[in-house]
Amino acid sequence: MKGILLAGGHGTRLRPLTSTGNKHMIPIANEPMLFYGLRHLAAGGISDVGIVLGTVNEGITQAVGDGGAFGLRVQYIRQGEPRGLADALLCARDFLDDEPFLMYLGDNLLQSGVEPFVRRFRDARVDAVIGVTPVSHPGSYGVVEMDGERIVSIVEKPASPRSNLALVGVYLFTPSILPIVRGLRPSRRGELEITDAIWRLHEQGAPIAVQRVDGWWKDTGRPEDLLEANDLVLRTLPAERFVRAGTVADGAELHGHVGLGRGAYVGPEVRLEGPVVVGNDTRLEGRARIGPGTAVGDRCTVRDSALSRAIVMEGSEISGPVELTDSIVGRSATIRARGPGPVRLSCTLGDSTELRL
Ligand code: TTP
Repeated sequence: MKGILLAGGHGTRLRPLTSTGNKHMIPIANEPMLFYGLRHLAAGGISDVGIVLGTVNEGITQAVGDGGAFGLRVQYIRQGEPRGLADALLCARDFLDDEPFLMYLGDNLLQSGVEPFVRRFRDARVDAVIGVTPVSHPGSYGVVEMDGERIVSIVEKPASPRSNLALVGVYLFTPSILPIVRGLRPSRRGELEITDAIWRLHEQGAPIAVQRVDGWWKDTGRPEDLLEANDLVLRTLPAERFVRAGTVADGAELHGHVGLGRGAYVGPEVRLEGPVVVGNDTRLEGRARIGPGTAVGDRCTVRDSALSRAIVMEGSEISGPVELTDSIVGRSATIRARGPGPVRLSCTLGDSTELRL
């Protein structure tokens, strides 16, 4: 079985946190979000993966290379403009070469990965397995209406959803989906919709299994989703992933799961409360406080500031009496506060931005 990992698209709401507009290299717990998908595929027993890229690449090909570091053989497939999930599939048809395949949306994270879906596909001998989970705002997703185990309808972003079961970004198909995709017309929003293709497959009488997600699932379209994904990943990472390298000065307080990168420095008056990860060569100085659900990237400086539920990307500096919560700070950004403070701040700050308070 082959895998295709979609990493094109425009990701418009996360544009300021990217250099080219492709969101898939934004870090979650200090790892590019795309890497989670690659690991899920490898753990699901899939070794040949086609990564679908749009018009920009954001360093994906350099970071992933031939996929060897993930135990995968990776090829790159150009889609160009994002004309829909089914269009991405069409672009990948030569790579797929008439084999069954798993399609994974690169901005999704799943606590239990793709292995349960692969198992269901193998055991149930169906033409498709689609992953679903109940959500509070189904109108933003493809929605599946069920009557017991029977599919009643599948609709993309319905105005009046008839169920709360949203399609998550994991689909398995036999090649029987490809002729259907070839015959699709663009939807009202101008995309070739995978939901339309799945509905036609169902109408043709092909067996489709609907598989619920175990554990948490998150897609990362908005800044608040990134923060939630960061928090979920940190809270569920196995303890052994919180490696403590770097230097911790006497007097520093580290509580709970704290990961410290190579060359990181924690000053004597600093307090960290996990789950927290701190990147390589990052300095935590003065009376810095780093609270749960926070990831500070490589080569950052935090001096005298308090962070909780935050993502701070590489090369950024936060100093002075700032209390930063529920915030994302892009790469090489600066927040400097003066005066007695404290200044409470909750923000999304784009790459290379400077904020003086
Ligand atoms: P979407 O969430 O549908 O869209 P988007 O991320 O491009 O834009 P926005 O956040 O503004 O809604 O994309 C889901 C995933 O599929 C994401 O990882 C990007 C990828 N994708 C493609 O690779 N090609 C496409 O044509 C589309 C629509 C998405």
